[in-house]
Amino acid sequence: MKKNVLFMLSGSIACYKACNLISRLVKEGHSVKTACTKNALNFIGAPTLAGLSGKSVYYDAFAQKDDKIEHISLSKWADIAVLAPATANIINKMAAGIADDCVSTLFLSHDFKKPFFIAPAMNKNMYLHPATQAAMAKLKEWGVRVLPAEKGRQACGDNGEGRMLEPRQIYEFLLEYLK
Ligand SMILES: Cc1cc2nc3c(=O)[nH]c(=O)nc-3n(C[C@H](O)[C@H](O)[C@H](O)COP(=O)(O)O)c2cc1C
Repeated sequence: MKKNVLFMLSGSIACYKACNLISRLVKEGHSVKTACTKNALNFIGAPTLAGLSGKSVYYDAFAQKDDKIEHISLSKWADIAVLAPATANIINKMAAGIADDCVSTLFLSHDFKKPFFIAPAMNKNMYLHPATQAAMAKLKEWGVRVLPAEKGRQACGDNGEGRMLEPRQIYEFLLEYLK
């Protein structure tokens, strides 16, 4: 059965990888709506997300074209929510219950009867920072599916843990909920 997938992105270089996954989900017939932080738009254009998903992108809560309250209606619409890439900033904000951008607000309106996945993507020090580790532990405790990050060469030139999984690896985690 085809699913409604709410696909969210935050401000990381790994946004370009997420496009591949969005495209795959759409090709498989799932209905995908995208939302992102304003910082994500420094890494990927809204027209790209709109073009891939065939739907408008939610990134400005106060620029709504109709009478829908999108952070509520999108959360209700979604069968499954995915945040990839998830920055250190958004992970820490989510764990603190802050809702001051579209993605963190969508998280706070999420109904935990449905799955919420995050794929962390960041520099090794940001990933291993006690704040980020504690935030991820808290999110897991709440029922968020926090995906592992890979070790390897990072965009900044460092080598270590924090690289976002490849799109096909993220897809494997989602598969159970896409059926
Ligand atoms: C070139 C560049 C690459 C970045 N890559 C990452 C990243 O992969 N992960 C991360 O957590 N932050 C990264 N940052 C920092 C975030 O973009 C920054 O913390 C931002 O405030 C995150 O905002 P958001 O979580 O609202 O999208 C990067 C910044 C720059 C300038």
